[in-house]
Amino acid sequence: MAAIRFDKVQKYFGRGDKRMHALSNINLEIEDREFLAIVGPSGCGKTTCLRLVAGFDAASEGSVSVAGKPVMKPGPDRAVVFQQFALFPWKTVRGNIDLGLRNKAIGFEEREKRIADVLKLMNLETYADAFPHQLSGGMQQRVAIARAYVLDPEVLLMDEPFGALDAQTRVVMQEELVRLARVQPRTVLFITHAVEEAVYLADRIAVMTRRPGRIKELVDVKSVRDAEKWNRFERIEDVMDLDSFVHLRTGIWRSLREEKNG
Ligand SMILES: Nc1ncnc2c1ncn2[C@@H]1O[C@H](COP(=O)(O)OP(=O)(O)OP(=O)(O)O)[C@@H](O)[C@H]1O
Ligand SMILES: [Mg+2]
Repeated sequence: MAAIRFDKVQKYFGRGDKRMHALSNINLEIEDREFLAIVGPSGCGKTTCLRLVAGFDAASEGSVSVAGKPVMKPGPDRAVVFQQFALFPWKTVRGNIDLGLRNKAIGFEEREKRIADVLKLMNLETYADAFPHQLSGGMQQRVAIARAYVLDPEVLLMDEPFGALDAQTRVVMQEELVRLARVQPRTVLFITHAVEEAVYLADRIAVMTRRPGRIKELVDVKSVRDAEKWNRFERIEDVMDLDSFVHLRTGIWRSLREEKNG
């Protein structure tokens, strides 16, 4: 059974003359523990896809299901990380991470344990009592990811999570995500504008057309990576010049450019 499944999804916004076709016939199955990245021109409906899985919005036609069940509303099996870190400025790192857990019926001791574990996992132990404004952007995004992970979700939904970071911090966070994927594998739906980031991180990449967004191409990165014997545990600068990496990246760029000019 697919971890996430889009079945003939159509999405319209507005009514009558103002009706706008945002997503057109999206069919996609994301396997359990698969890392799928979506790339596509601005406004093509990437965030909309993610919001449908999160349960923040509903498809106009067709259905989206997670672990075989149609998505009706947000749930603890799915955690979302946005581009803007969305931390509460008046809460400490620990307090921010604790927020998600408070809505769950978990005892104090279990909560403390889970928070301690995730602080360790994300190398945030020394920042537990700091406030967001005392942290760099990268650190803040680390907290946002910790807040998602502490809920122990099956599915992680990430909408340009590193888009607001500088290039160096971005690479550190990409490596961090790879490490997380190894120690605590999850199904990940990851939106990015950075083609290189998608090739480095993803098992498969869905390339979308401009609006109304359709999936024009599904690129199987994992099989190329396996065949060419490189992996995500290598540093990005050690793989990004390999022929197979460049080939994937160039193919996706071409595909995207067609959309912009078309
Ligand atoms: N709640 C809404 N009401 C009306 N229109 C919306 C709504 N949400 C999104 N849209 C429109 O739907 C289209 C797709 O938006 P979406 O945010 O999914 O695009 P995107 O691919 O994530 O773009 P970007 O790369 O710029 O983040 C856009 O034209 C947007 O203006
Ligand atoms: Mg978006």
